[in-house]
Amino acid sequence: MRYFEYLFSINKKNEDDLIEVFFDNNFKDYYIDEDIKNGITTLKMYISAEDPDEKFVNILMEKFRLELLSKELVMEREWLRTWLDTLSPFELIEGIWINPFPEEPFEKENAEVLHIVPGSAFGTGLHPTTKLASKMLKKINLKNKTVLDIGCGTGILSMVSKLMGASEVKGYDYDKIAVEKARDTVRMNNMDIKIGVSDFLNDVEVYKPDVLVSNMVAELLIDLMNHKNFDKFITEKTEIIFSGIISHKEKIVIEKAKEKGLELKDRMEEDSWKALKFQKKI
Ligand SMILES: C[S@@+](CC[C@H](N)C(=O)[O-])C[C@H]1O[C@@H](n2cnc3c(N)ncnc32)[C@H](O)[C@@H]1O
Repeated sequence: MRYFEYLFSINKKNEDDLIEVFFDNNFKDYYIDEDIKNGITTLKMYISAEDPDEKFVNILMEKFRLELLSKELVMEREWLRTWLDTLSPFELIEGIWINPFPEEPFEKENAEVLHIVPGSAFGTGLHPTTKLASKMLKKINLKNKTVLDIGCGTGILSMVSKLMGASEVKGYDYDKIAVEKARDTVRMNNMDIKIGVSDFLNDVEVYKPDVLVSNMVAELLIDLMNHKNFDKFITEKTEIIFSGIISHKEKIVIEKAKEKGLELKDRMEEDSWKALKFQKKI
């Protein structure tokens, strides 16, 4: 498949808002890079050349005053390669490293290594919302706990939970491509995690997980709390971790949680992103 690669120079101040728009539009084919030495932040967007939808690009250009530096026709593998070339193994959180090159052995003393190849699903661990959710999971003692991960993407939070000692982990995503990617990734890491397709909780057999984790935008977390099955999964013991919340939407998530009888127990932030932990009010 061929893609148009758009290269923009962006204002660093707009980075979080841009990422939020990509989230909202389920647009994943982008890459933001920062050249600290020269003080330049660039955005690469990839639009299918077979059926180019330039409307989205034009809207973004206008909204964020993006400066187009170049537009080139590229092959998919080339851009994935370019992306991989800029990556190297990195620390997700203390004690857990991500290796984007499973074919190249990578070990780190006193740390676990997860192999996750960037590509068609969200969740390489580079995004602050994934890091925040992982940090929140680390704060909980997951030994022998059951974990339900809604919007699992590559399955990264499910795998992090398993590394932290969870006994049973289930991850769901409504995006079939993400589910395929997560199944491959879980297999590549030799983990026993059930991954399935589900729109929120529609096709998840009801049970009471000790931990429910979800890294989705604020509006989707609210939809999840409003879902007809949500209350069936939650007991007084369930620790609910929500990440993916941009600062100015924190309030609406807390308000909805309150309406659902959930109490705010913990809160973490990175850049303009928040992660919140809730538990049912006793
Ligand atoms: C921000 S990504 C998080 C991926 C991964 N859990 C992480 O933390 O990096 C959000 C994921 O939620 C999924 N998603 C969005 N709406 C959903 C829905 N209604 N039901 C299930 N998954 C959904 C998307 O496909 C995407 O993979």
